[in-house]
Amino acid sequence: MHVDGCKSVCLMMSLRTPLPTLITLFMSLGVDGTEWSVKYNPTKICALKGSTVFINGSYTYPAELEVKEEFWVKEPFDREQDTPVYCKPTKDSGTVQCYVDKQQKFSLKLINVTKEDDYYFRIKTNVIEQKWLGDPVKISVTELLVNTLLEVIEREAAVLTCTTTCSLTDSPTFIWYKNGRRLSSNTNPLHLRPVSSEDAGSYMCAVRGYEHLPSPAQTLTVRCEFTM
Ligand SMILES: *[C@@H]1O[C@H](CO)[C@@H](O)[C@H](O)[C@H]1NC(C)=O
Ligand SMILES: *[C@@H]1O[C@H](CO)[C@@H](O)[C@H](O)[C@H]1NC(C)=O
Repeated sequence: MHVDGCKSVCLMMSLRTPLPTLITLFMSLGVDGTEWSVKYNPTKICALKGSTVFINGSYTYPAELEVKEEFWVKEPFDREQDTPVYCKPTKDSGTVQCYVDKQQKFSLKLINVTKEDDYYFRIKTNVIEQKWLGDPVKISVTELLVNTLLEVIEREAAVLTCTTTCSLTDSPTFIWYKNGRRLSSNTNPLHLRPVSSEDAGSYMCAVRGYEHLPSPAQTLTVRCEFTM
């Protein structure tokens, strides 16, 4: 009796160990070859502070599984509990919205981004251990600043640069304003050469499409050339 009991426990243990490994292997590969993947487009974002940002993408999963939940988490979060949930498609919260369609295409819309964060797409299935966490998408946030010498001498050159702390995602077109009026030049930096007393004034820069999020104004003073 005693020996039999031990035997059957040993038998169960030896059977049990390789089984989950096999199942896991099967499931992550998928019977028809579909595997887990999460792709974002773009994978890295540099956005203007206060702008609206989309993280779009798509995912695939092993066909024998049934997807139960799709949601977003962001740092810091509990990787075991998946808390706190940052955005769930069914739950609409003003400045953060997310969608997923039947072809596993998803998007996360962030209105008024204000700080840098890492976002992850999470998928859970009918099998508890079979869940997937996408790679992180980093959103960097920048403001615009006009960088220039505060004072230049007439007939010399002034160079005004519209600076950012990260490289804006979709190659931006820069816009310049002088005393609130839009200038025709879209170059960055803006060269004023030779500079004249009429160039003195207050300068701001912005990015096309985001004219409502300009830099602070920067005053340029033009000193008259000293003549004897
Ligand atoms: C992301 O999706 C939104 C809404 O579906 C769309 O308006 C936007 O242009 C997309 N952005 C990119 C980079 O594909
Ligand atoms: C954007 O967010 C910041 C910080 O949370 C807030 O101060 C500001 O009022 C918001 N802007 C808009 C247009 O909602």
